Amino acid sequence: MRIFAHRGARAHAPENTLAAFELARQLGADGIELDVQLSKDGQLVICHDPTIDRTSNGLGWIKDHTLSELKRYDFGGWFSTDYQGQKLLTLREFLEWFKPIPMQLNIEIKNGPVIYPGIEEKVLQHIHQAAVGERTLISSFYHPSLKRVKELDPTIKTGVLFECRPINPFELLTATQADFFHPFWQSLDRDWCIAAQAAGIAIHTYTINTWEEYTWVQDFEVASIFTDDPGRFNTHGELHSLRSLPGWS
Ligand code: G3P
Ligand code: CA
Repeated sequence: MRIFAHRGARAHAPENTLAAFELARQLGADGIELDVQLSKDGQLVICHDPTIDRTSNGLGWIKDHTLSELKRYDFGGWFSTDYQGQKLLTLREFLEWFKPIPMQLNIEIKNGPVIYPGIEEKVLQHIHQAAVGERTLISSFYHPSLKRVKELDPTIKTGVLFECRPINPFELLTATQADFFHPFWQSLDRDWCIAAQAAGIAIHTYTINTWEEYTWVQDFEVASIFTDDPGRFNTHGELHSLRSLPGWS
């Protein structure tokens, strides 16, 4: 089972920051998941919420701040004083760091409640410029974005995110042309998981943070999990110790 670090190793470092991504790498994650939104001046920035209230010392919608305004805020101190000084990352800055690292990448396009026209084109441009398309997949809860991505570039892999269990999950694939299922783990059930496996469609499920959840989804033979704590699991189901990392006390 592949392990994606959900917003980086966010159990131990401020989510969606370089510190959380670097820790995910050190902890042996197979891939990184992150969320993108657009600033007032149209820059792709990595942040889960449409506002900066929860994860910075600033306030307000991302859409109402330029990149240079967003860069003035601290995105680490809310988590721990150890992480003060973490800045909001652009997707471009992230890709410069990520490019030489042999990991996979899941970019989640955030659309809604704020709608960002043209965000799909920008994400694809960044992926192509960094030449990481073969190890990157795009997901979204906003299914029109997935459809748009495939219209723009049918070769890029996409995953359809959903929380509730649809009557027919396969209709989501048809509507979006997505390649993978990205369900909430509690929406997994025998009927459609067996059908997905029979059809050769991989399931990547979120968010798995306990051994009970891990063994539960293992039973459905999911291909990947998203976890806040990639050091807790690896592909052999063994515990990693944070304390074995350099500089950890
Ligand atoms: O990719 C799974 C997960 O990221 C979806 O939920 O709210 O953490 O973006 P959320
Ligand atoms: Ca996400």
